[in-house]
Amino acid sequence: MQEDTTEAQDCDAAVRLEKPYRSSTRTRIALIVGAMAASAAALVACGGDSSSNDSDAIDQAALVAQGKQIFRFDTFGDEIFWTDKLMMNEVIGTAVDPVTALSVGLKVDAEALPAAVVQGIQSGSISLTSPATTVALLKLDAVVGVKGTVETVNGQDVLKRVGITCALCHSTVDNSFAPGIGKRLDGWPNRDLNSGAIIALSPTLDAATKAVFNSWGKGKFDPRHNVDGISKPVVIPPAFGLEGIHSVTFTGDGKELSYWNRYVAVAEMGGQGSVSEPRLNLSITNGTQDLVSDKLPALQAYQLSLKAPTAPTGSFDATAAVRGQLLFEGAGKCASCHTGALFTDANSTLHPASDSMAEPESPSYASRSASKQYRTSPLKGIWQHAPYFHDGSAATLTDVVRTYNGRLALGLSSQQIADLAEYLKSL
Ligand code: HEC
Ligand code: HEC
Repeated sequence: MQEDTTEAQDCDAAVRLEKPYRSSTRTRIALIVGAMAASAAALVACGGDSSSNDSDAIDQAALVAQGKQIFRFDTFGDEIFWTDKLMMNEVIGTAVDPVTALSVGLKVDAEALPAAVVQGIQSGSISLTSPATTVALLKLDAVVGVKGTVETVNGQDVLKRVGITCALCHSTVDNSFAPGIGKRLDGWPNRDLNSGAIIALSPTLDAATKAVFNSWGKGKFDPRHNVDGISKPVVIPPAFGLEGIHSVTFTGDGKELSYWNRYVAVAEMGGQGSVSEPRLNLSITNGTQDLVSDKLPALQAYQLSLKAPTAPTGSFDATAAVRGQLLFEGAGKCASCHTGALFTDANSTLHPASDSMAEPESPSYASRSASKQYRTSPLKGIWQHAPYFHDGSAATLTDVVRTYNGRLALGLSSQQIADLAEYLKSL
């Protein structure tokens, strides 16, 4: 009997976990749905022969479900930046039609579209060249990473507020409906996203500032720009495959994801809360409330649950990849830094800037970071996110190998370079 009681308490805990988390009604509804899924799992587990391991798993499932909602839909109150300061709602609501939105890399979640909208898009009765359609999509929560508040004024839908979420940069879609429209792929970096061009749409920026943002290009963002004023963006990295790696960012600035998640939520997205980083002499507080801190555990749990995607069948030559693996571990000397199952020595080592094949660059990205060094990049799922290195300077995996071969004088033949590239494609 004693044991039954404990179990019941633990099972309740999976649902109670949702309570401390405060957010908009809409997010709450989404959370409740997530929690219901978790509680369903709880009911199954609790009905059976459960042990404390099971209830730990249930707590974890609830935390992950919560984190997924935060990752996809939470703005941390960053509307104070994107709406009050940049007035993005005005330009999106009046001048950004879906064709324009897709052309700057924004993605549409096909699963958020009701059947009537799907039919309308297919038949052409819903115009993809009308900004009103963008507002309608935002009202449906269908634009990945963009959260709108739409109100009806004199019978017309008006975009009153807009904010961004983590999914903007770290999610894409599978294009199953049309290019840029499909099922969400959380954690996959959006390498089509022209974040600078999007920010440059703001009516509150002057021409010189717009020119800076417009120079960033596709798939890149500079998360140091608003701190040091330098404009030299890096590629948006994946948020998958990071379980077991206790060193985050290209430069290994922190030991856990929450370190960087807080930094991004406050310093880059403009969310309400605080972040300080003494190594960069940085201390930022946005707004008067903290809408970030209590979400960090769930957000981290969700990201750590995202596995790197396996290479599609037929996307690489398996025989060549076997030969390539031998080179990776042998003549290529790759495994001296890209060690173990995660292909990185990040948990024990950071490397001097000169170990990056993207260096020397001016200014060095490492020099702008807190660690001033580079982390050996993990390589699982690497096939998915060309171009490579933090600055995107290697267009393909073959280019990566050619660069190493030249810079480190490895003496690999062109056959060996090709084999090693096939191995990288298979990871
Ligand atoms: C505007 C685009 C953008 C948004 C929005 C954004 N990120 Fe990032 N993220 C980046 C870029 C660029 C980097 C690379 C920075 C670096 O490593 O120096 C990065 C790095 C990361 C990393 C490090 C990955 C690794 O390999 O260590 C994680 C984790 C991450 N972001 C999570 C998040 C989360 C969680 C959010 C929401 C709170 C978020 N990001 C919002 C662009 C973005
Ligand atoms: C001395 C340590 C070291 C060695 C040896 C090394 N790497 Fe790296 N590797 C790194 C570091 C550090 C980075 C991150 C560089 C950057 O982004 O600027 C990296 C990045 C990469 C990337 C890009 C990852 C991404 O997400 O863009 C690939 C691919 C890669 N290495 C493959 C290899 C291969 C193949 C070899 C062997 C020929 C090799 N590396 C040898 C340290 C090393």
